Amino acid sequence: MKRILVTGGLGFIGSHTVVELQAAGMEVVVIDNLSNSDVKVLDGIEKISGIRPQFEKLELRDKLAVQDYFNRTKVDGIIHFAASKAVGESVENPLLYYENNINTLVYLLQECNKHHIDHFIFSSSCTVYGQPDVLPINEDAPVKQAVSPYGNTKQISEEIIFDTCNATKVQSIALRYFNPIGAHSSTEIGELPIGTPQNLVPFITQTAAGLREELSVFGDDYPTKDGSCIRDYIHVVDLARAHVVAMKRLLQGNNETSYEMFNLGTGRGSSVLEVVHAFEKVSGVKLNYKIVGRRPGDVISVYADTSKANEVLGWKTEMSMEDALASAWQWEKKLRGIA
Ligand code: UD1
Repeated sequence: MKRILVTGGLGFIGSHTVVELQAAGMEVVVIDNLSNSDVKVLDGIEKISGIRPQFEKLELRDKLAVQDYFNRTKVDGIIHFAASKAVGESVENPLLYYENNINTLVYLLQECNKHHIDHFIFSSSCTVYGQPDVLPINEDAPVKQAVSPYGNTKQISEEIIFDTCNATKVQSIALRYFNPIGAHSSTEIGELPIGTPQNLVPFITQTAAGLREELSVFGDDYPTKDGSCIRDYIHVVDLARAHVVAMKRLLQGNNETSYEMFNLGTGRGSSVLEVVHAFEKVSGVKLNYKIVGRRPGDVISVYADTSKANEVLGWKTEMSMEDALASAWQWEKKLRGIA
């Protein structure tokens, strides 16, 4: 049985991936510093899979603690989720983002090299493309100047991994996520934003649940079909499954080069207003929203060309945006005790 370390394994995408790895027969160990997650997520994972993963609260910025961890923990591969992800916060506190997202990656890769852990999956983002010239966007598109320190950390991370794969035995796959939303169908795990949500769907579900008075739609004057921004919203469970496929690819040595990257999206672009209306339809709740000005740093439109992931990884999404919105609403209702 292969043993996989999931960093940030109690976070939104991490926890869903832990469950899918367990379902695929892998043993999972989790580290997380609990900065944006809750240790109770372990209970949710255990309720779904019947297996409580070995967990350790670990601060990846603490190089000595990381070294100590790998001196006593043997794993066959790593899926590295642990990172900060709030775009606005990264503009205000760039050094925190460079420390959290870059230093930690370097420490992990040093341990991979030292302990011969040759299989490394990295959480990247469509943010590396900036505003693409051609849509849908494929992996050959140029990486554009990052608009935020957060986006820059993803670009730099990919470069660090690429160089490491060239120079060492580490083999890696970077997965470029579009917009992950939704929750597990069991409603045992889902997204747990701390404070006011920055992302669209948690803000929508919290507004519908009565925690927020009103959703602000950031801009209706973009050059799109209805004037609001377009994104590619992917169900988090579909996204999680792709990590299992990618890890198996590395473990079985099926990768074509030592560093590969894949877009993970649905290929469908949806506008903010389409998401709002789709949510109203699946939930039966009328959403209180108003149009406000544009949010600085937002790109107009981005959605994935998924051919490479479909053909090379043999992975494709199985659930729709509507499925994802319905699951996000079930999760929010459970959290808030709404019948
Ligand atoms: C961005 C990044 C993504 C990153 C994520 C982390 C890009 C293209 N995407 O996602 O890589 O992983 O942040 O948080 O850089 N919106 C509203 N009202 C709200 C919230 C959002 O109208 O209250 C709109 C936004 O303007 C945007 C869309 O909803 O058009 C999606 O926003 P969000 O969920 O924050 O994700 P991105 O900004 O696309």
